[in-house]
Amino acid sequence: MNPVFPPALAASIAQMLEGVSRKDLAQRAVKQSAAYRAGQNSGGIAGRDDALAYLLARAPATFAASAAVFARIREIAPDFAPQSLADIGAGPGTAAWAAMAAWASLTTVSMLEPNAHFRELAQKLMPQASIIAGDLGADKTGADLVVAAYVLAEQPERIAGAIACDLWKITGKMLVLVEPGTPQGFARIRAARAALIAAGAHIAAPCTHDKACPMSGDDWCHFSQRLPRSRDHMTLKDASVPFEDERYSYVVATPEKISSGARIIKPPVESKPGIVLPLCDETGLRNPFVAGRDKEAYRAVRKLEWGDWVR
Ligand SMILES: C[S@@+](CC[C@H](N)C(=O)[O-])C[C@H]1O[C@@H](n2cnc3c(N)ncnc32)[C@H](O)[C@@H]1O
Repeated sequence: MNPVFPPALAASIAQMLEGVSRKDLAQRAVKQSAAYRAGQNSGGIAGRDDALAYLLARAPATFAASAAVFARIREIAPDFAPQSLADIGAGPGTAAWAAMAAWASLTTVSMLEPNAHFRELAQKLMPQASIIAGDLGADKTGADLVVAAYVLAEQPERIAGAIACDLWKITGKMLVLVEPGTPQGFARIRAARAALIAAGAHIAAPCTHDKACPMSGDDWCHFSQRLPRSRDHMTLKDASVPFEDERYSYVVATPEKISSGARIIKPPVESKPGIVLPLCDETGLRNPFVAGRDKEAYRAVRKLEWGDWVR
């Protein structure tokens, strides 16, 4: 899995950015980050340069998170070969690009996006996509694969379950929801997960079961994807390290049960005597210890990472 924009997309973006002041984009990006941190939505993206600032400052990370989720799906469902994709709340088409990179089988891409400035960028970046202007619920056609990435965060938590159920109605084979890996993002994912199960869906990832989510208290289920920062991105974010870690939460729902095993839901803890694997499976949360002296078992788990699927 490559967490960076495919070369064709990177080239189109570079072309769009020719002659655009990076200083101005940086100021716009700072405003957007502050608005997102304050729980506001993308409503502040009020012009082409605001949309460009999102493309340069945020889209690399949201792309990386969607790409990471799609890579997880390919592990658990290697035969899944969607032909059509609906990217709901597509922004500049970030998740659609990540899906196109994951599945060569995709021939039809539709996007739903209420913001005209995002739609303009999305259409330029993916001319073959059909883009609908509208609010959630405006897409009545759906697709094999329906994706909503970083969209529930912009809706009240109390309606996250209802939105997920509406998206489920237009899902042919798989629904994927990706959110920021924050307590608020996870709260929406958890509400969506519970509503989807109640509507008859099965959970394919990250959970390997359809039981109630065992996460409680202040804990939240999230994962992390590292991605390199481009020179532009470093300037824009005034960053000192050439990478960033995007934390995300997600849920994948399918009409049939396809998942089993366990998921590593936190970084494994390695020590001299062995390794502790924080797992979630249908028995709940557990932290098995695999001793180094148990050579075969240790070899089988020693390279496993946070987010990995344990068969
Ligand atoms: C943070 S951006 C995410 C864009 C893109 N999916 C990504 O992963 O980079 C949130 C997107 O959700 C869209 N959005 C917010 N509320 C929406 C609604 N009620 N219906 C449809 N889209 C919505 C916004 O216009 C924006 O494009």
